[in-house]
Amino acid sequence: MALNEKISSAELERQKGFMDKIRDINEEFYNKKGRRKTMFIQTFGCQMNAHDSEKLYGMLEEMGYEPADEEKDADFVIYNTCCVRENAENRVYGNLGYLKHQKKRNPYMKIALCGCMMQQETVLQTIKEKYKHVDIVFGTFNLYKLAELIYINYETNAPVFDIWKEHGEIVEDLPSVRHFKYKASVNIMFGCNNFCSYCIVPYVRGRERSRCSEDILNEIRQLSKDGVKEVMLLGQNVNSYGKGLEEDITFAQLLRKVNEIEGIERIRFMTSHPKDLSDELIYAMRDCDKVCHHIHLPFQAGNNEILRVMNRKYTKEQYLALVDKIRSEIPDIAVTTDIIVGFPGEDDACVDDTIDVIKKARFSGAFTFIYSKRTGTPAAAMEQVPEDIVKRNFNRVLDALNPIIYDINKEKIGKVYKVLADDVSSDADFITGRLEDNSLVHFKGDRSMLGEILDVRITDCKTFYLIGERI
Ligand code: SAH
Ligand code: SF4
Ligand code: F3S
Repeated sequence: MALNEKISSAELERQKGFMDKIRDINEEFYNKKGRRKTMFIQTFGCQMNAHDSEKLYGMLEEMGYEPADEEKDADFVIYNTCCVRENAENRVYGNLGYLKHQKKRNPYMKIALCGCMMQQETVLQTIKEKYKHVDIVFGTFNLYKLAELIYINYETNAPVFDIWKEHGEIVEDLPSVRHFKYKASVNIMFGCNNFCSYCIVPYVRGRERSRCSEDILNEIRQLSKDGVKEVMLLGQNVNSYGKGLEEDITFAQLLRKVNEIEGIERIRFMTSHPKDLSDELIYAMRDCDKVCHHIHLPFQAGNNEILRVMNRKYTKEQYLALVDKIRSEIPDIAVTTDIIVGFPGEDDACVDDTIDVIKKARFSGAFTFIYSKRTGTPAAAMEQVPEDIVKRNFNRVLDALNPIIYDINKEKIGKVYKVLADDVSSDADFITGRLEDNSLVHFKGDRSMLGEILDVRITDCKTFYLIGERI
């Protein structure tokens, strides 16, 4: 299979045929029972995974399913799984145990599993042996076949397993239902070629493939017509966008094109790998008025030997120099990051280097993870760090991070920022929104503000969110 190739229209038509068949079957159910079949999708993974769930939702909606209020009452449950860390996998197994009882109560319930975890042979074995109540299993490369798999299961009434070892063609134009009305995720590439030694993603998401720029731009133009104001361009390593495409295009050039699309007001992207972040991209971010002044730039660890064994291909000094360079071009940019604590060989002194990076780079947010051993990755065969040392160092890292994040938030008090109002808070009188730097703010308001970009003055803050008032 060549990289970057698109799926044939004949295959897409075939899949549409299956969707129509399921829709007819569901319509018959409705005529008999007087209620529509319901669906529930749970996402366990990253933004890419969440965006896949939006596509699954779109397809199920086309097939006539309605959203269920609660998982236990749904007729079709999908778990879109993640395997980046062990606890993500354990949650899936735990929930499957719970569903077994619910399925006994609801004879119509069908259970489907998909996503990254399903790309592992050992997981498939476990499901076949211990979770016989699962009806449909598919992977990360063939989610567009959902209707066909439902149909086969319906016809045979036997479990259906369909996992591809490698990626197929890129699928365009799947229906998709967005979680937010005013912001949307757009895949620009799939897969990863970096093989960081701790990470399972390259094994379960396959090699890097980029979508043609015209397909991406058309999708965003359509989103803009639908009222979307903010787009998030998604890829495991967006900085290598364009490699292998017939057209000659870089991520920076793509950003400049997206910036021209009328109606779109904010552009975000993730994730950037430090090793591939070009000057050209920094200039594009600086020049494009719609590109948010925020960059998520995972550094993972501060010690150079750890970084080498992690296969990250940069040093602590190079990382810090890169952050300086970005800030010299875009002074108000917010930098956020990912950090792993407890990688094999990481002792207290190595973690001191991580803390040094935290203090020098002054991150305004970070996802911090305890290293999780992933079978099949090179790091899994290395000597692991004892749990008590990892826990202690993890807390040291948080103790270094949180005061800085709090200070950065505190500096915002009294200032006015543009905020995209995107959701109603759990306290119904409050609206939540995001500043350009992606920080979260709660302010008094009502539904009519949703989708608007408003001026909000920050009045108070906590470590993980701001409080403000509309002016
Ligand atoms: N492609 C992105 C990251 C995708 S995974 C990038 O390289 O920036 C998101 C984050 O999960 C990673 O940045 C890393 O911090 C974390 N992660 C990946 N594998 C992990 C593991 N085995 N244990 C703990 N954290 C891990
Ligand atoms: Fe995993 Fe590294 Fe690829 Fe990110 S760049 S997905 S951490 S292998
Ligand atoms: Fe994302 Fe988890 Fe897969 S982080 S790419 S859903 S392994």
